Amino acid sequence: GKPFVYVTRKVPEHCLEELREFAEIEMWQEEEIPVKREVLLEKAAKAEGIITMLSDKVDRELMDAAPNLKVIANLAVGFDNIDVKTATEKGIVVSNTPDVLTDTTADLTFGLLMATARRLPEAVNYVKAGEWKNWGPLLMAGKDIHHKTIGIVGMGRIGATVAKRATGFDMNILYHNRSRKPEAEADLGARYVSFDELIEESDYVVCLAPMTEDTKDLFNYDVFKQMKTSAIFVNASRGGVVLEDDLQRALDEKEIAAAGLDVFRQEPIDADHPLLAYDNVVALPHIGSASVETREEMTRMVGRHVANVFVGRKPEYVVNESVFN
Ligand code: GLV
Ligand code: GLV
Repeated sequence: GKPFVYVTRKVPEHCLEELREFAEIEMWQEEEIPVKREVLLEKAAKAEGIITMLSDKVDRELMDAAPNLKVIANLAVGFDNIDVKTATEKGIVVSNTPDVLTDTTADLTFGLLMATARRLPEAVNYVKAGEWKNWGPLLMAGKDIHHKTIGIVGMGRIGATVAKRATGFDMNILYHNRSRKPEAEADLGARYVSFDELIEESDYVVCLAPMTEDTKDLFNYDVFKQMKTSAIFVNASRGGVVLEDDLQRALDEKEIAAAGLDVFRQEPIDADHPLLAYDNVVALPHIGSASVETREEMTRMVGRHVANVFVGRKPEYVVNESVFN
């Protein structure tokens, strides 16, 4: 029969039609509840491919339980949920979904920046609660975005695309990245600076760096303290880059003005998460790439990646190229 593929979440099924020609597909049927670990282990035991979500921990235990596994296709650009080293040792292809989600994620990131700066959620709640009794000169007054300095930490595809959005707002663009990005400098007028300079000079500090050993816990109290007291911090990468207790302390001590967060250390967060108590924190449920069009395109892409591996072809986006050597 056809190779078995397990999909760890209910995804738009029509987007996997092509893969159906190559595989028998089974899907966890819940959209918002992650697959139970024991179910995943059991399905993995007979799977040659798995389509995973960023909320699935794909570790050695899982791969050990999956002797036939050839490909792990992650429905995300980030892949810090996967033990890539072990996958590579075992010759399992790991793929992700960059490019297709770049514009959509940049839109959300810039929207989060705007919502935080102009206090949109607070203002919406104010109107809905019937508190709007009068017009006032400083009623819900926020901070300007145009002509301010944005500092982008992590100038990958998404970072550069956020920078492009920032040019439309006449922003001064700083960035920090492991490597210089001459195209971003030439095309967008972005200026490469040290991490410290970015932190000190930016009105908006926007993190889009992937989570790695280098970026884990990067935003600690000292870093927040180094920012302008008027600075707004935006995180749309991974919660693990921020020490949340330190962010909370920085907000308490008014070391920074506000934070817009699409991601958290331990997702999902509950209503009693301490950061939700702040009016100047805008929190989103990790929806960077969540447009219907993009999620469908990402689903088609992971389907293609799995099918590619089954026919012996290298998928378009492979995280561990060395498995093909
Ligand atoms: C979302 O966070 C992704 O990595 O695609
Ligand atoms: C990350 O790799 C990105 O696309 O920005």
